[in-house]
Amino acid sequence: MNLAITGATSGIGAVAFQELCPEFDQIFLLARNQEKADQLISSLPKNQQRKVVFISLDLSDMHSVKSAANALSKEADQLDVLINNAGGIFPKKEITKDGFELTLSSNHLGHFLLTHHLMPVLLKSGSPKVINVSSEAHRAAKVDFSNLNYDEGRYSSFNSYANVKLFNILFTKSLVEKYGEQGLTSYALHPGVVNTNFGKESDGIFKIFWKLAKPFMITPKEGAQTTIFLAKETIPQKQNGFYFKKNKPLVPSGLARSRDLREKLWKISEKMLKEWL
Ligand SMILES: NC(=O)c1ccc[n+]([C@@H]2O[C@H](COP(=O)([O-])OP(=O)(O)OC[C@H]3O[C@@H](n4cnc5c(N)ncnc54)[C@H](OP(=O)(O)O)[C@@H]3O)[C@@H](O)[C@H]2O)c1
Repeated sequence: MNLAITGATSGIGAVAFQELCPEFDQIFLLARNQEKADQLISSLPKNQQRKVVFISLDLSDMHSVKSAANALSKEADQLDVLINNAGGIFPKKEITKDGFELTLSSNHLGHFLLTHHLMPVLLKSGSPKVINVSSEAHRAAKVDFSNLNYDEGRYSSFNSYANVKLFNILFTKSLVEKYGEQGLTSYALHPGVVNTNFGKESDGIFKIFWKLAKPFMITPKEGAQTTIFLAKETIPQKQNGFYFKKNKPLVPSGLARSRDLREKLWKISEKMLKEWL
């Protein structure tokens, strides 16, 4: 069984990576910072270190995303579990070199493209699984598909983050609708409010809220448990495409359940990524 994970160089992803390594034959560590990746790999027992393959991936650079998927597909006969975990909230509006707002690129578009290019190798698995790390923040989403880059109005880091975490749930359900008949399962999850590097760079009201929340936050080890559960366990078929919290399905927001919205998101994502598909 093979696993690929993004965002394992810090926080929740690092713990999920460490705890899942013993369970898999080969692990693809997709990260933008090789030094951090090497440190993480050296934290593993020697017999597990040789199972890990580092692949360079920057989710804010679509050429890098496509190259990472190609490199993985050349290395692996099949991919059983893909964990789209990387993400973040960014204080200032930033447009990537590909022309996308950074939060959108790092939390949604990058993973959309990665999953698209990994689909052939995923479908070679007997039971392919895609896990998307979302958030309860999705409940605050207010989506304007005509203004995803905040070309108009004021940029709000929290609004952008809430939107992309909604997109993670919509994407999960779409994956099941499009590939479920070929055996694919997909789940979204909320890890909890976790003391990681997340939010360190934020500003405004969110920064104050995040500072106040620190004493009540759970540890990365606790925050990784739902990801680990979903990666290891066989989930009942009727829960395919569901959103989980503390290892249990949870009903997401009305927007997150909207078929219309997920179809719009899929089409818009494909349109934005046309050059790299
Ligand atoms: N912490 C929470 O309370 C919380 C709550 C709900 C949901 N989440 C979600 O949980 C996931 C993990 O977050 P965390 O709390 O563990 O945060 P974290 O400690 O900041 O880790 C974020 C990870 O994402 C990677 N990353 C960010 N931008 C990237 C890019 N452009 N290309 C490649 N990798 C990139 C980072 O890489 P570097 O090490 O190179 O920076 C890091 O490995 C995120 O999706 C987040 O939205 C977190």
